[in-house]
Amino acid sequence: MHKGLILLMILLLSVMLVVSCGRKGKDISEMGAEEAPAAEEAVSDADDMAEMAAMPGADAGELWNFITETSPYTEWSYWPDYEGYQPGKSPHGAILRVFVDEHGMANIADDMKSSMDNGVVIVKENFMPDTTLAALTVMYKVEGFNPEVGDWFWAKYSPDGTVAASGTPAGCIGCHGGVASNDYLFTGNVGGDVEEEHEHDDDEKYED
Ligand code: HEC
Repeated sequence: MHKGLILLMILLLSVMLVVSCGRKGKDISEMGAEEAPAAEEAVSDADDMAEMAAMPGADAGELWNFITETSPYTEWSYWPDYEGYQPGKSPHGAILRVFVDEHGMANIADDMKSSMDNGVVIVKENFMPDTTLAALTVMYKVEGFNPEVGDWFWAKYSPDGTVAASGTPAGCIGCHGGVASNDYLFTGNVGGDVEEEHEHDDDEKYED
């Protein structure tokens, strides 16, 4: 009888323990749910963090949505001293316009910069001689994406967003590799002492 009582108490105690643990778990999840909106507000308050969170992955579709909807590239700045319509060279369009996002503009303004930061996006519009938009070619720096060649994610789109090439196309990298010391950029002078060099290999035919 005595033994039975002890067993009963042990049983009761373990039931109480299980119940209280269960409650604790529930309390924590409830607490999390209450705190979530506050945390969201904090993020949207910090412009930088919101911007980071909104950056696309190394994905042509995500990048297209970013440059056309999240942060329309037509609202960005032209590359400094390379504003508006410029005569293009093969393999890109006969006429072109180069847009740089705010982050890239800050990098260009920073004389001490020798390369673009992660997250920088550069969009080039490539036009036919009659000024019809033929293609968009984009360079987007993604940390760890392709470290041997500057971590640039490359993409080429039709004006309607159809992806013609993306990721690490050998053509883009091969030709832009000639200006690796300028962070793979032909336009401008990010590397500091690189002569602007718009020459290219005419044998390679790309119709953009
Ligand atoms: C055969 C050489 C060549 C190939 C291939 C090539 N590019 Fe370019 N690219 C250039 C040159 C030259 C410029 C400078 C254009 C100008 O201002 O006349 C340029 C400019 C650019 C720019 C503007 C930033 C900069 O570097 O000046 C982007 C963005 C770009 N190319 C993306 C691409 C993408 C994406 C591909 C592959 C689909 C590609 N390019 C393939 C030669 C090339």
